[in-house]
Amino acid sequence: GVGMTTENLLVEVTDQVAVVKMNRPKVLNALNSEVLKEIEATMTQLENSPEVRVIVLTGEGKAFVAGADIGEMKDLSPQEARDFSNLGHRVFIQIHTLEVPVIAALNGFTLGGGLELALACDFRYASEEAKLGFPEASLGIITGFGGTQFAARAFGLSRTKELIYTGEMITAHQALNCGLVNRVFPHDDLMAETMAVARRIIRNSPEAISLAKEAIVKGYDLGLREALELESDYFSACFALGAHRDRMKAFLENRKERKK
Ligand code: HXC
Repeated sequence: GVGMTTENLLVEVTDQVAVVKMNRPKVLNALNSEVLKEIEATMTQLENSPEVRVIVLTGEGKAFVAGADIGEMKDLSPQEARDFSNLGHRVFIQIHTLEVPVIAALNGFTLGGGLELALACDFRYASEEAKLGFPEASLGIITGFGGTQFAARAFGLSRTKELIYTGEMITAHQALNCGLVNRVFPHDDLMAETMAVARRIIRNSPEAISLAKEAIVKGYDLGLREALELESDYFSACFALGAHRDRMKAFLENRKERKK
């Protein structure tokens, strides 16, 4: 595998899957500006690596990410707070629109900005030990890395309001029930199960996957008719790219072989 490890991130690429592991376990992988910029640079690098087809984001130790770094936030001026929020938005929109799928593997505490980061990913798997929530209101702030919007889109307005107003931590199984995570695994199986899904994705056409992601993400912001028009654009783009030819031919030939 190729390593692209940075100060706060362990990056390992094996068989076309990049595992990006947040690595500040002493502060439960809290996000400061430096870590956010490293995530941004790493995502750019991985997106531009032809050998990377899926990215898995996870954390070292007992947290995925326990939120934005409270030490960095406590003395921010209103303008600096806005800049910090904007930096998070920039990085999370990058992940949200990245050409390759990004799967979040929630290995533990996934709180505040950590849950916002997880929500910017394409989907989430969780360890049974994961705990999720938005504790911001207990600190006198609100989610500032897209949580008010990404959460509402992922699992509805009323559940989002409940999580934000109460600040309650929910278990992985509760998160599964409200659609916040797609699947829950025993803690020790989380990475193996996530890697199996990554390998399943890799069998499919990378062009089709990135066009589908773009159609889903961009279409979501539009009205239905406009979104369907957009879908036709991307469907047509598959034919312009021609990646379907070999795969459709192989399908039909396999059928013929089996009938012999
Ligand atoms: C800075 C943090 C941190 C954080 C934990 N630590 N979370 N440091 N920012 N978000 C540090 C602790 O201070 C502690 O440092 C060390 O990590 C280990 O944490 P403990 O509290 O000792 O662990 P534990 O008792 O197991 O409790 C785990 C926990 C708790 C329940 C997750 O750490 C916690 O409540 N953390 C804060 C969670 C939170 O409020 N997150 C939302 C932040 S607001 P020491 O030095 O004591 O060992 C946010 C806004 C996003 O995310 C938007 C911004 C624009």
